[in-house]
Order: sequence, then structure tokens, then C-alpha cells
Amino acid sequence: MKDKKAINFPKSIENFLLHLHPIKIDARAVKFTRTFGLGGITALLFIILCVTGMVLRFSYVPSVAGAYDSILALERETIFGHFLRNLHHWSAKLMIIVSFLHMVRVIYSMAIFKKRAENWIYGLVMMFFVVAASFTGYLLPWDQLAFWAVTVVTQIIEYIPFIGVPLADMVRGSSTVDEQTLLNFYTLHTGILPLLFIVLMSMHFWLIRKAGGVALPKIEKPEKVNVNPNLIWIEIMAAAIVIAALFLTSAFYHAPLLEEANPLVSPNPSKAPWYFLGAQELLLHLHPVFGAVLVPLAVTAFFVYLPFFRVKNLNVGVWFNSPLGKQITIQSSIVSFVFTFVLIYLLDHFLHFQLWFTSWPMWISNGILPFLAYMLPMGAYVYFWKAKKQAENTEILLACTSILLSSYLSMLFISLLLRGEGMTLIF
Ligand code: HEM
Ligand code: HEM
Repeated sequence: MKDKKAINFPKSIENFLLHLHPIKIDARAVKFTRTFGLGGITALLFIILCVTGMVLRFSYVPSVAGAYDSILALERETIFGHFLRNLHHWSAKLMIIVSFLHMVRVIYSMAIFKKRAENWIYGLVMMFFVVAASFTGYLLPWDQLAFWAVTVVTQIIEYIPFIGVPLADMVRGSSTVDEQTLLNFYTLHTGILPLLFIVLMSMHFWLIRKAGGVALPKIEKPEKVNVNPNLIWIEIMAAAIVIAALFLTSAFYHAPLLEEANPLVSPNPSKAPWYFLGAQELLLHLHPVFGAVLVPLAVTAFFVYLPFFRVKNLNVGVWFNSPLGKQITIQSSIVSFVFTFVLIYLLDHFLHFQLWFTSWPMWISNGILPFLAYMLPMGAYVYFWKAKKQAENTEILLACTSILLSSYLSMLFISLLLRGEGMTLIF
């Protein structure tokens, strides 16, 4: 690759950039399709959220009596108030999507094993923080959408046996969603969470450098290029495109704001924030011990342990590890999406285990049976790859990951678009 002319930054900025990046990097790391810039875009969105959030704080009133009116006043009376709120809203939505895609990218480019395993754990904690920041922000406008979404999620927490109610009370700071909840969420949202996020992000960046940059397939004598301008130029372009797209979206599409929160009138259906809708869907079909405890715990354990599974023939930096890995990933994503969709339809209309086995305990008829209805076919499908196609552990891990991610997306799709009044399926 021919080096272009370096961009002339003031010395302080140049030094700062060289703390983030080394002076020279592998030419293959500069290609946009290596990372799709997803990690960098997530960082950019965080900066936009901090800047817009700090300005929103000037007008926002964190109390039940004042929150909703302060948002109305911001939208109606403050110059660019509406735009500012929209920018914060759309950046938050985009941040969840982009950080999720970044997670998917690092998995499928085999960039989470060995020396990158620790950074994967930091990444998971950061993902939790992104969701926590979005969730605490969700309540702040104090409209019907905000109030009932947070009520639904804290009620899901209550389902957890033994510790559910005290845990939900701790999240709310009270036994219902009220003034104390709003204040707690505001403190977390505008202080504690962003601060912790900055610490985690610094560790994440440092560990990327410690691992020698992004994961790339091993070759002899890789070509090196200067970071300035090769990488810096791409970063500037990507940032400009994201900012322009966000500005345009915020100019034309408003962040939703319903009537002021009314604890006495619940909307029908009452839905959790959109990223939790997959979990809400799961609870429609599974006993809470399974839906709120066992399944989430097992899935979390799988993702935490993912880089530590023993893998054979690992090809770090090679997309999907091998051509078979690519085939397995694509097929199992499609199979799992369609299978989850069909199973939910069947559970809603035909597989009435609870009515068929009324004398059985609920945790069997509404827990083990629907759980097995999912696990047995999916287990058989994975076994088929192992036994018939001689897939290695690495490819089997890709299959399991794709099945889990795709099932969640399928449930999210149904709950977001196909659940109407009383949470019935509508097409
Ligand atoms: C990871 C970072 C952040 C995320 C994901 C995030 C997310 C959100 C979301 C989803 C909302 C509700 C927006 C709506 O629909 O109205 C919100 C509101 C708000 N956020 Fe953030 N935020 C972040 C950082 C910050 C920071 C750093 C501050 C201030 C220092 C802040 C201050 C506020 C305020 C004052 C509101 C209420 C105004 C409103 O709802 O429009 N946010 N945030
Ligand atoms: C939420 C905020 C996050 C930010 C700001 C961030 C930022 C970054 C950046 C800038 C990179 C360099 C390469 C690239 O751009 O893809 C990177 C790499 C990486 N990230 Fe993240 N990340 C975040 C979340 C996550 C999550 C959720 C995970 C996984 C659970 C994760 C795991 C990793 C790993 C393993 C690498 C090394 C990849 C490689 O060597 O190719 N990160 N991150």
C-alpha cells in the first residue's frame, strides 16, 4: 500500500492519537471490512451521548412532579431542544445496535481467544453497561412508555425465586416505580454509569494494544503502514458519516413522548424496552424459574466461558475460522431463527402443555416441557454437524453461538412487531 501524506494535527492532538494507536500498523488492519469500524463508532456514540446528555441536564428536572414538564418545555420552548433530545435518543438506540454488532464481529472473526479472552470479558461488562445506561435513561422522560416499561422489567425481576422481590426493590429503591426510582436512575444514568464506562473503555483500549492490535491471520512479513494518515483518515470519514446520519435522523424523526406517566392506567400491551423484548417473549412461554433464572444464567455462563472452551485448529483473525465454519454459521442462524419462530407459533396455538397435563406441577408442564421442545431439536441439529459433517469444536462453538443469538433475535422480532393487545400474536 502506498503511504499518503500525513495529516498535520497540532502536536498535542498528534501525541494523543499516538497514545491510542501505534505509529505503524499492519496494512490489513486498515481495511474497513476488518472491523467495520464498529468499536470506534461505539466509542464515538458514547462521546455524543455524554455531550448531549450534559446539555440535557441543564433543563431536565429529576422529580416526578417536574420531569415530564421539563421535557415538554425543552421540546417546545428551548431552541434546538427537540433536536438535542432526538440526538440523545437516536444515539442511544444506535449504540446498542452497533455494540451488539461489534460483539458479533469479534466472535466471528475469531478475535476472542487466548490473549484476547480477557478483553472479551471487559467487552461483556461494557455491553451490560450500555444496556444499563439505556434502561436507566428510558425512565427519565417519565411518560407512560417509560413508566410501564420499567414496571414490566422490574416485575420480571420479581419472578426470580427467593431473591426476586428484594432485588427488584433494590433496583427501584422502593416497592413500586416512584420518585425514589427516578432519582436513583438519574444518579446512575448521569453520574455513576458513564464514569465506570470510561474506566472500562480505557482498559478495553489498552488491552487491544497489549494484544498487538486487531486479530489478523498469521502471515510472514506483513506490510506495515503509518497510522497517520491511513487509519486516521478512515476514522475521520467514518465519524463524519455517522454524525451526518444522526443529525439528519434527529432533524426528521422525533423521540417518542406519550402522555405523562399514570401508575393507575396501564397501556395494553405493556412492553419492556425494545432490547429486553426477547426476554419478555421468553417469559410468555416458560415458567419464571426457567425464563427468568435458569435460561438467562446458562446463556450468560456460555458467553462468559466462550473464549475459554478448548478449541482445535483455531485460525485467529480468519472469518468463521474455516469454510465449514462459515457454512455452519449461516445455516444455524437461519435454522434457529425459523425454528424459534415456528415453535412460538405452535406454543401459542397448539402445544398447550399446561392444559394437557393439569395435574403436573407448573415447573414441568410450563418449564421442562417447552424447554425440551426447544433443546431437543436444536441439540439434534448441532449433533448432526458434529457426527455427520465432522465439525471440530471451534465450528460447533460457532453453531451454538449463532443458535443463541439468532433465537433471541427471532423472539425480539416477534415481540416487537407481532404482539398486539393482550400480547396476542397478530400478523
Ligand atoms: C452510554 C451512555 C448513555 C446512554 C446509552 C443514554 C441513554 C439514554 C436514553 C435511552 C434516554 C431516554 C431518551 C428519550 O427517549 O427521551 C436518556 C435520557 C437522558 N439522558 Fe442519557 N444516555 C447516556 C449518557 C448520558 C449522560 C452521560 C448524561 C448526562 C451527563 C445523560 C443525560 C440524560 C438526561 C438528562 C436524559 C433525560 C432527557 C430525555 O429523556 O430526553 N445521558 N439517555
Ligand atoms: C461498548 C463499548 C465498546 C467499545 C467502545 C469498544 C471498542 C473497541 C475498539 C475500538 C476495538 C478495536 C477494533 C474494532 O474497532 O473493532 C475493539 C476491539 C475488541 N472488542 Fe470492543 N468495544 C466495546 C464493546 C465490546 C463488546 C460488547 C465486546 C464483546 C463482548 C468487545 C470485545 C472486543 C474484543 C475481543 C476486541 C479485540 C478484537 C480484535 O482483536 O480484533 N468489545 N473494541
